[in-house]
Amino acid sequence: MFGFVGAGALTTAVVEGLSAGVAEPPPILLSPRGREVGRELAGRYPNVRVCSSNQDVVRDATTIVLAVRPQLAAEVMAELSFRPGQAVLSAMAGVRLEQLRDWGAPAGRVARVIPLPAAARRRSLTVLYPDVDAGRALFDRVGEVLVPGAERTLDAFSTATATFAAHLDYLATIVDWLTDQGVDPGAAAAYTTRIFGQLGESLTGHTGTLAELTAEYMTPGGINEQVMADLRGEGVPGSVRRALDRVMGRLRG
Ligand SMILES: NC(=O)c1ccc[n+]([C@@H]2O[C@H](COP(=O)([O-])OP(=O)(O)OC[C@H]3O[C@@H](n4cnc5c(N)ncnc54)[C@H](OP(=O)(O)O)[C@@H]3O)[C@@H](O)[C@H]2O)c1
Repeated sequence: MFGFVGAGALTTAVVEGLSAGVAEPPPILLSPRGREVGRELAGRYPNVRVCSSNQDVVRDATTIVLAVRPQLAAEVMAELSFRPGQAVLSAMAGVRLEQLRDWGAPAGRVARVIPLPAAARRRSLTVLYPDVDAGRALFDRVGEVLVPGAERTLDAFSTATATFAAHLDYLATIVDWLTDQGVDPGAAAAYTTRIFGQLGESLTGHTGTLAELTAEYMTPGGINEQVMADLRGEGVPGSVRRALDRVMGRLRG
Protein backbone atom coordinates (compact mmCIF):
# COMPACT_ATOMS: atom_id res chain seq x y z
CA MET A 1 0.00 0.00 0.00
CA PHE A 2 1.45 3.37 -1.05
CA GLY A 3 0.80 6.48 1.03
CA PHE A 4 1.55 10.13 0.23
CA VAL A 5 1.94 12.83 2.86
CA GLY A 6 1.46 16.07 0.92
CA ALA A 7 -0.97 16.02 -1.99
CA GLY A 8 0.21 18.69 -4.40
CA ALA A 9 1.77 18.84 -7.85
CA LEU A 10 4.32 16.10 -7.32
CA THR A 11 1.90 13.65 -5.71
CA THR A 12 -0.62 14.30 -8.47
CA ALA A 13 1.94 13.40 -11.14
CA VAL A 14 3.00 10.18 -9.42
CA VAL A 15 -0.55 9.11 -8.56
CA GLU A 16 -1.65 9.68 -12.15
CA GLY A 17 1.24 7.59 -13.43
CA LEU A 18 0.43 4.81 -10.97
CA SER A 19 -3.27 4.84 -11.80
CA ALA A 20 -4.26 6.23 -15.22
CA GLY A 21 -5.10 3.42 -17.64
CA VAL A 22 -3.49 0.79 -15.38
CA ALA A 23 -5.39 -2.52 -15.32
CA GLU A 24 -4.69 -3.26 -11.65
CA PRO A 25 -3.54 0.00 -10.04
CA PRO A 26 -2.10 -0.19 -6.51
CA PRO A 27 -4.11 1.08 -3.54
CA ILE A 28 -3.02 4.63 -2.68
CA LEU A 29 -3.64 6.69 0.44
CA LEU A 30 -3.41 10.49 0.44
CA SER A 31 -3.08 12.98 3.27
CA PRO A 32 -6.10 15.26 3.73
CA ARG A 33 -4.63 18.68 2.89
CA GLY A 34 -4.15 19.95 -0.61
CA ARG A 35 -6.35 22.36 -2.48
CA GLU A 36 -8.98 19.84 -3.58
CA VAL A 37 -6.22 17.80 -5.21
CA GLY A 38 -6.86 14.68 -3.15
CA ARG A 39 -10.61 14.79 -3.63
CA GLU A 40 -10.17 15.23 -7.37
CA LEU A 41 -7.72 12.28 -7.59
CA ALA A 42 -9.93 10.04 -5.46
CA GLY A 43 -12.90 10.96 -7.68
CA ARG A 44 -10.97 10.01 -10.78
CA TYR A 45 -9.27 6.83 -9.54
CA PRO A 46 -11.09 4.22 -7.43
CA ASN A 47 -7.76 2.94 -6.04
CA VAL A 48 -7.13 6.33 -4.35
CA ARG A 49 -8.49 7.23 -0.92
CA VAL A 50 -8.04 10.42 1.11
CA CYS A 51 -7.33 9.77 4.79
CA SER A 52 -8.49 11.96 7.63
CA SER A 53 -4.99 12.68 8.96
CA ASN A 54 -1.34 12.38 7.98
CA GLN A 55 -0.88 9.73 10.69
CA ASP A 56 -3.70 7.64 9.19
CA VAL A 57 -1.71 7.53 5.95
CA VAL A 58 1.37 6.36 7.86
CA ARG A 59 -0.63 3.85 9.89
CA ASP A 60 -2.11 2.10 6.86
CA ALA A 61 0.63 2.38 4.21
CA THR A 62 3.79 0.27 3.91
CA THR A 63 5.63 2.70 1.62
CA ILE A 64 5.23 6.37 2.47
CA VAL A 65 6.23 9.19 0.11
CA LEU A 66 6.90 12.51 1.82
CA ALA A 67 5.86 15.29 -0.55
CA VAL A 68 5.30 18.43 1.48
CA ARG A 69 7.46 21.49 0.92
CA PRO A 70 10.86 21.23 2.62
CA GLN A 71 10.12 24.19 4.93
CA LEU A 72 7.29 22.15 6.49
CA ALA A 73 9.30 18.97 6.90
CA ALA A 74 10.14 19.34 10.59
CA GLU A 75 6.60 20.30 11.59
CA VAL A 76 4.97 17.48 9.60
CA MET A 77 7.47 14.78 10.58
CA ALA A 78 7.27 15.63 14.29
CA GLU A 79 3.67 14.41 14.33
CA LEU A 80 4.25 11.09 12.55
CA SER A 81 5.08 7.69 14.06
CA PHE A 82 6.53 5.01 11.82
CA ARG A 83 7.00 1.25 12.27
CA PRO A 84 9.85 -1.12 11.47
CA GLY A 85 9.20 -2.69 8.08
CA GLN A 86 7.92 0.53 6.55
CA ALA A 87 9.77 2.40 3.82
CA VAL A 88 9.96 6.19 3.90
CA LEU A 89 10.77 7.90 0.59
CA SER A 90 11.33 11.63 0.80
CA ALA A 91 10.86 13.86 -2.23
CA MET A 92 11.57 16.97 -0.15
CA ALA A 93 14.40 18.81 -1.86
CA GLY A 94 17.46 19.36 0.30
CA VAL A 95 16.27 17.41 3.37
CA ARG A 96 19.19 15.19 4.26
CA LEU A 97 19.13 11.44 4.80
CA GLU A 98 20.61 11.68 8.26
CA GLN A 99 17.73 13.95 9.32
CA LEU A 100 15.15 11.75 7.58
CA ARG A 101 16.48 8.61 9.31
CA ASP A 102 16.15 10.38 12.62
CA TRP A 103 12.58 11.49 11.94
CA GLY A 104 11.61 8.20 10.26
CA ALA A 105 12.89 5.84 13.00
CA PRO A 106 12.15 3.00 13.48
CA ALA A 107 11.09 2.61 9.80
CA GLY A 108 13.44 0.07 8.25
CA ARG A 109 14.23 1.79 4.98
CA VAL A 110 14.63 5.49 4.35
CA ALA A 111 15.60 7.00 0.99
CA ARG A 112 15.44 10.21 -1.00
CA VAL A 113 13.80 10.43 -4.41
CA ILE A 114 13.54 13.04 -7.16
CA PRO A 115 10.57 12.13 -9.35
CA LEU A 116 9.98 14.18 -12.49
CA PRO A 117 6.59 15.63 -13.52
CA ALA A 118 6.69 13.16 -16.44
CA ALA A 119 5.83 10.47 -13.86
CA ALA A 120 2.24 11.30 -14.82
CA ARG A 121 2.93 9.74 -18.24
CA ARG A 122 5.14 7.01 -16.74
CA ARG A 123 8.15 8.74 -18.29
CA SER A 124 9.97 9.85 -15.15
CA LEU A 125 13.65 9.15 -14.64
CA THR A 126 13.47 9.09 -10.87
CA VAL A 127 16.69 9.54 -8.92
CA LEU A 128 16.68 7.27 -5.85
CA TYR A 129 19.29 7.15 -3.08
CA PRO A 130 20.10 4.85 -1.44
CA ASP A 131 18.90 1.90 -3.48
CA VAL A 132 15.93 0.52 -1.54
CA ASP A 133 13.61 -2.12 -3.02
CA ALA A 134 10.48 -0.25 -1.99
CA GLY A 135 11.67 2.82 -3.90
CA ARG A 136 12.24 0.80 -7.04
CA ALA A 137 8.91 -1.00 -6.60
CA LEU A 138 7.06 2.32 -6.61
CA PHE A 139 9.03 4.41 -9.08
CA ASP A 140 9.64 1.63 -11.65
CA ARG A 141 5.88 1.87 -12.20
CA VAL A 142 6.12 5.49 -13.35
CA GLY A 143 9.23 5.31 -15.52
CA GLU A 144 12.81 4.36 -14.86
CA VAL A 145 14.96 4.65 -11.76
CA LEU A 146 18.49 6.04 -11.56
CA VAL A 147 20.58 5.29 -8.46
CA PRO A 148 23.63 7.52 -7.92
CA GLY A 149 26.62 6.41 -5.88
CA ALA A 150 26.33 9.05 -3.16
CA GLU A 151 23.83 11.43 -1.56
CA ARG A 152 25.88 14.36 -2.83
CA THR A 153 25.23 13.20 -6.39
CA LEU A 154 21.49 13.10 -5.70
CA ASP A 155 21.79 16.74 -4.60
CA ALA A 156 23.54 17.50 -7.90
CA PHE A 157 20.64 15.95 -9.84
CA SER A 158 18.22 17.90 -7.68
CA THR A 159 20.16 21.06 -8.52
CA ALA A 160 19.85 20.32 -12.23
CA THR A 161 16.03 20.29 -11.87
CA ALA A 162 16.21 23.87 -10.58
CA THR A 163 16.83 25.04 -14.15
CA PHE A 164 13.32 24.43 -15.54
CA ALA A 165 11.95 27.93 -14.85
CA ALA A 166 15.06 29.70 -16.19
CA HIS A 167 14.90 27.58 -19.32
CA LEU A 168 11.27 28.55 -19.86
CA ASP A 169 12.19 32.19 -19.20
CA TYR A 170 14.76 31.94 -21.99
CA LEU A 171 11.98 30.75 -24.31
CA ALA A 172 9.73 33.57 -23.08
CA THR A 173 12.47 36.05 -24.02
CA ILE A 174 12.39 34.74 -27.57
CA VAL A 175 8.57 35.06 -27.63
CA ASP A 176 8.83 38.65 -26.34
CA TRP A 177 11.47 39.53 -28.90
CA LEU A 178 9.32 38.12 -31.73
CA THR A 179 6.39 40.16 -30.44
CA ASP A 180 8.58 43.27 -30.46
CA GLN A 181 9.17 42.58 -34.15
CA GLY A 182 5.41 42.91 -34.72
CA VAL A 183 4.51 39.22 -34.57
CA ASP A 184 1.12 38.53 -32.98
CA PRO A 185 1.82 37.31 -29.36
CA GLY A 186 -0.19 34.12 -29.90
CA ALA A 187 1.71 33.29 -33.08
CA ALA A 188 5.02 34.12 -31.38
CA ALA A 189 4.23 31.72 -28.54
CA ALA A 190 2.92 29.02 -30.89
CA TYR A 191 6.02 29.25 -33.08
CA THR A 192 8.44 29.15 -30.15
CA THR A 193 6.73 26.29 -28.35
CA ARG A 194 6.51 24.32 -31.60
CA ILE A 195 10.20 24.59 -32.41
CA PHE A 196 11.38 23.92 -28.88
CA GLY A 197 8.82 21.15 -28.40
CA GLN A 198 10.34 19.48 -31.44
CA LEU A 199 13.83 20.09 -30.10
CA GLY A 200 12.74 18.39 -26.86
CA GLU A 201 11.50 15.39 -28.83
CA SER A 202 14.82 15.13 -30.63
CA LEU A 203 16.59 15.24 -27.25
CA THR A 204 14.46 12.42 -25.89
CA GLY A 205 15.32 10.13 -28.78
CA HIS A 206 19.01 11.10 -28.89
CA THR A 207 21.60 8.62 -27.61
CA GLY A 208 24.88 10.42 -28.43
CA THR A 209 26.43 13.45 -26.79
CA LEU A 210 24.78 16.87 -26.64
CA ALA A 211 27.73 18.26 -28.60
CA GLU A 212 26.82 15.92 -31.49
CA LEU A 213 23.22 17.12 -31.42
CA THR A 214 24.37 20.75 -31.26
CA ALA A 215 26.50 20.17 -34.37
CA GLU A 216 23.44 18.85 -36.21
CA TYR A 217 21.63 22.14 -35.66
CA MET A 218 24.61 24.41 -36.26
CA THR A 219 25.87 25.18 -39.73
CA PRO A 220 29.52 26.32 -39.51
CA GLY A 221 29.52 30.08 -39.93
CA GLY A 222 25.71 30.15 -39.67
CA ILE A 223 23.30 32.02 -37.43
CA ASN A 224 22.98 29.32 -34.74
CA GLU A 225 26.74 29.37 -34.33
CA GLN A 226 26.59 33.17 -34.10
CA VAL A 227 24.06 33.22 -31.24
CA MET A 228 25.94 30.51 -29.35
CA ALA A 229 29.22 32.38 -29.68
CA ASP A 230 27.54 35.65 -28.64
CA LEU A 231 26.03 34.11 -25.49
CA ARG A 232 29.27 32.36 -24.61
CA GLY A 233 31.13 35.62 -25.13
CA GLU A 234 28.73 37.30 -22.72
CA GLY A 235 29.48 34.71 -20.08
CA VAL A 236 26.18 32.78 -20.10
CA PRO A 237 27.71 29.31 -19.42
CA GLY A 238 29.63 30.75 -16.46
CA SER A 239 26.46 32.38 -15.06
CA VAL A 240 24.57 29.10 -15.36
CA ARG A 241 27.35 27.23 -13.55
CA ARG A 242 27.50 29.81 -10.77
CA ALA A 243 23.72 29.67 -10.31
CA LEU A 244 23.90 25.86 -10.11
CA ASP A 245 26.73 26.08 -7.56
CA ARG A 246 24.61 28.40 -5.42
CA VAL A 247 21.60 26.05 -5.53
CA MET A 248 23.83 23.09 -4.64
CA GLY A 249 25.18 25.12 -1.72
CA ARG A 250 21.65 25.90 -0.57
CA LEU A 251 20.52 22.26 -0.84
CA ARG A 252 23.52 21.03 1.11
CA GLY A 253 23.05 23.65 3.80
N1 LIG B 1 6.75 19.38 -8.25
C1 LIG B 1 7.75 18.60 -8.63
O1 LIG B 1 7.89 18.25 -9.81
C2 LIG B 1 8.76 18.06 -7.61
C3 LIG B 1 9.79 17.24 -8.06
C4 LIG B 1 10.70 16.71 -7.13
C5 LIG B 1 10.56 17.00 -5.79
N2 LIG B 1 9.56 17.83 -5.38
C6 LIG B 1 9.42 18.05 -3.92
O2 LIG B 1 8.15 17.57 -3.54
C7 LIG B 1 7.63 18.34 -2.49
C8 LIG B 1 6.23 18.82 -2.88
O3 LIG B 1 6.33 19.65 -4.04
P1 LIG B 1 5.02 20.06 -4.83
O4 LIG B 1 5.48 20.74 -6.06
O5 LIG B 1 4.09 18.89 -4.94
O6 LIG B 1 4.41 21.15 -3.80
P2 LIG B 1 2.88 21.61 -3.64
O7 LIG B 1 2.17 21.51 -4.95
O8 LIG B 1 2.91 22.88 -2.90
O9 LIG B 1 2.27 20.48 -2.70
C9 LIG B 1 2.56 20.40 -1.34
C10 LIG B 1 1.30 19.89 -0.65
O10 LIG B 1 1.56 19.73 0.74
C11 LIG B 1 0.37 20.09 1.41
N3 LIG B 1 0.62 20.38 2.81
C12 LIG B 1 0.94 21.57 3.39
N4 LIG B 1 1.03 21.41 4.73
C13 LIG B 1 0.78 20.12 4.97
C14 LIG B 1 0.71 19.36 6.17
N5 LIG B 1 0.96 19.89 7.36
N6 LIG B 1 0.41 18.05 6.06
C15 LIG B 1 0.16 17.47 4.87
N7 LIG B 1 0.21 18.15 3.70
C16 LIG B 1 0.50 19.46 3.76
C17 LIG B 1 -0.12 21.28 0.66
O11 LIG B 1 -1.47 21.49 0.96
P3 LIG B 1 -2.13 22.98 0.93
O12 LIG B 1 -2.29 23.28 -0.52
O13 LIG B 1 -3.41 22.79 1.67
O14 LIG B 1 -1.16 23.89 1.60
C18 LIG B 1 0.12 20.84 -0.77
O15 LIG B 1 -0.96 20.11 -1.27
C19 LIG B 1 8.62 19.47 -2.23
O16 LIG B 1 9.36 19.15 -1.08
C20 LIG B 1 9.50 19.50 -3.46
O17 LIG B 1 10.83 19.84 -3.08
C21 LIG B 1 8.64 18.35 -6.26
